[in-house]
Amino acid sequence: MNTKKLAAERAVEAIEEGMTVGLGTGSTAYFAIERLGQRVKEGLNVRAVATSKRSEEQALALGIPIVPFAEVGQIDMTIDGADEVDRNLQLIKGGGGALLREKIVAARSAKMFVVVGEDKMVDTLGAFPLPVEIVPFAHEWTLDALKALQLNPGLRMEDGEPYVTDNGNYIADCRGVSIDDPASLHAELNAIPGVVENGLFVEMAHTVVVGREDGSLDLFT
Ligand code: A5P
Repeated sequence: MNTKKLAAERAVEAIEEGMTVGLGTGSTAYFAIERLGQRVKEGLNVRAVATSKRSEEQALALGIPIVPFAEVGQIDMTIDGADEVDRNLQLIKGGGGALLREKIVAARSAKMFVVVGEDKMVDTLGAFPLPVEIVPFAHEWTLDALKALQLNPGLRMEDGEPYVTDNGNYIADCRGVSIDDPASLHAELNAIPGVVENGLFVEMAHTVVVGREDGSLDLFT
């Protein structure tokens, strides 16, 4: 069973005529964009903004209209994946490196629909490495500050070089941290000079759609 596709396609059912939609990033959001493209071909009239270059390219190829940010007031709903979801619907995101744009778009959205397979549901966040987007300037010092918080940061690498986000920044992945208080850690991280944003999404998810191996779906709000 493709639990990601199941959840993503269910969330797309909530999109209504005339809405402005935020398009997430990752392998689950991919299925949502594909399904939205089908609905647009069938005549649904929507406009969209994307959280990454690759999601924008996918949307444009499917004929989903992408509008400039200056023309968007509020986004009606955003559909995005997550790396982990806890019982309080707090999230870790950013495994795909798009956390900053994802958070900017989610913050502008009346509703954020999170789409996941059941394997992403956890009791406590942190088994998945927490991504923190940091500026390249003096990034060694920012890593020191993360180390001082016992966060075991590692600079994300790609082809032997630091991975660079769509925004020209680096990512530090913080491993092996059990996150009992996501709100406090979120505040601590974003107070570090050099940190642009972190992958904790606290009280941002409106609905979490979970696809299960037996073909069923759960919606949590
Ligand atoms: C992208 O930066 C991430 O936040 C993704 O939304 C998240 O990692 C989920 O990705 P998958 O749907 O590929 O698991």
